[in-house]
Amino acid sequence: MTDRLQIVEGDITLLDVDAIVNAANETLLGGGGVDGAIHRAAGPKLLEECRTLGGCATGNAKMTAGYELKARYVIHAVGPVWRNGTVNEEVLLANCYRRCLEIAGEHRLKTIAFPAISIGVYRFPLKLAAEIAVSTVAETLRKFPGIETVIFVCFNQESATTHQAALDTIYADAPSF
Ligand code: AR6
Repeated sequence: MTDRLQIVEGDITLLDVDAIVNAANETLLGGGGVDGAIHRAAGPKLLEECRTLGGCATGNAKMTAGYELKARYVIHAVGPVWRNGTVNEEVLLANCYRRCLEIAGEHRLKTIAFPAISIGVYRFPLKLAAEIAVSTVAETLRKFPGIETVIFVCFNQESATTHQAALDTIYADAPSF
């Protein structure tokens, strides 16, 4: 499992993978943060396709083509807005990561890159989000042997360090991962 999970610091829009995940909102019609960056890099056809999807519930995800991106597909996931842990945010965030991998598995994708969903505009606490992201992906990958590599793309060093610590904890607790 170790070699299937990677943490890198950088810009997710530049990655040459089968699919990058977008941290979108329920409209799927674009926004700021990584969502804005992905739409800018993919070009206007991405928004055109997103308009046909009818939005997406929090905790779920929908896939489109990648258009001008190097990535062949974009999986648009809707993370929860953090409301002090009062509205099931942890479960909803885990659902996002699980759904993206299910979609990737259904389409036989081999490489997928995630941004840190919900930790920007949606204010989810970084450490908790990193633990949920890494543990949910590690667990879900057991069911999808065809997915070879999952990359967590962190936008700054603090995020990368926090995700790496979460990954180290998982390996220490369950070396079979
Ligand atoms: N590559 C990788 N990570 C990035 C990039 C990038 N190019 N740009 C930003 N990040 P956010 P959210 C990081 O706010 O919290 C949008 O308006 C960023 O530093 O993009 O899920 C949507 O439309 C942070 O660590 O997503 C929604 O309305 C992480 O990506 C709302 O924001 C996620 O931050 C979603 O909020």
